Amino acid sequence: MELVDTLDLGSSAARCESSSLSARTFKKLLKFEKLFLIFNNGQIEVSIFVVENFCIMNVEEFIPTKKFELIEKANISCKAPSNIALIKYWGKKNVQIPSNPSISFTLNNCKTTTTITFQKKTFKGFSFKFFLDGILKDSFNLKIEIFFNRIICYCPYLEFYDMEINTNNTFPHSSGIASSASGFSALAMCIVQFELLLYENISANYINRKASFLARLGSGSACRSIDGGLVVWGQHKDIKQSSDLLGIKFPYDVHPVFNDYQDTILLVDKNEKQVSSSIGHNLMHNHPFASQRFNQANKHLSQLIPVIKSGDLFKFIKIVESEALTLHAMMMCSDPYFILMKPNTISIINEIWDFRDSTQIPVCFTLDAGANVHVLYPKSNASEVNKFIDNNLAKYCQDGQFINDHVGNGAGRI
Ligand code: PMV
Repeated sequence: MELVDTLDLGSSAARCESSSLSARTFKKLLKFEKLFLIFNNGQIEVSIFVVENFCIMNVEEFIPTKKFELIEKANISCKAPSNIALIKYWGKKNVQIPSNPSISFTLNNCKTTTTITFQKKTFKGFSFKFFLDGILKDSFNLKIEIFFNRIICYCPYLEFYDMEINTNNTFPHSSGIASSASGFSALAMCIVQFELLLYENISANYINRKASFLARLGSGSACRSIDGGLVVWGQHKDIKQSSDLLGIKFPYDVHPVFNDYQDTILLVDKNEKQVSSSIGHNLMHNHPFASQRFNQANKHLSQLIPVIKSGDLFKFIKIVESEALTLHAMMMCSDPYFILMKPNTISIINEIWDFRDSTQIPVCFTLDAGANVHVLYPKSNASEVNKFIDNNLAKYCQDGQFINDHVGNGAGRI
């Protein structure tokens, strides 16, 4: 096979008739990806690649080529957890391609459960209703429509169904915990489980890869909520299987201490944050420290690989806390600048540092794009740390609220 050239988008739609894709699907693809023509034994094949960082990633794996049998009706329920990044993703390119690799713990208790009722219909086009906690929520429609438009070329069967989407979260909607990671991964898992009913011989490995691939197109970090344990998203030189297109389970040895690592989420501010993650990601374009930050994230991930194996918690803490503070430093020096931490966020950080200094217990913090604090610690230290949280940290939480969580197993059908 020979990679020839980028297509002239105007003239390519006609040529695609000769490929295995329908002209309609092909036109849709044009909107989302860069396209290349490939000559194979003199025959033109259309291939879809995303070209970033001088590396070419093939997305064909996720485009069904076989014919599918439409079924009349199906009900699919899936659950998917939230995740907490240790190396942060902050900054992206089109479409949902991270500017640097990231790694996270998949959580267990903070999760979304979604049921989709698929009902065959006679006309083509998207048709869905979205319910949150049993209540019709039109306000989510735009986000879901963008998601469906991004995934239609990978899930062409969706256009033949009315979809009623019912979803609920274990954590309160107004808790300051983003539900987009668990929400989009649960939705993506439902779609892939439905695909399983239409096509035979789909492997378990493909299900998770495709669910992660689709989830990313809803919310970047959602692709790290399909597999359990430690999940890497974004190409990294030391992790050969890593991809910008989907999350993969950390492929090397993991010290047992990380299998049941604890995460207590301190709800410092339960309101919706003033600056969304999407805006924050965009501000990394033309950010004065963008390239240094992306280099640092790559370096931190290289340093974390042996630490995950050895279980050296003080090295782990140094990387994880630096990542959290750098994420917020990026916000503070973007244009326009902004601050998502609150005074209580800083008080908690100082309390954790004092506690760690005086007890040598390896407890540390990390932050999402918000004011809430994730307190990370080994299970063997849970009783001391829980007492410390009750006595010293709960007072900084809104209504004294926090959520105890730990590393979990990922998404799946229920
Ligand atoms: O997936 P998004 O667009 O909500 O961005 C997530 C960004 C952070 O939570 C701050 C970092 C991360 O890697 O999860």
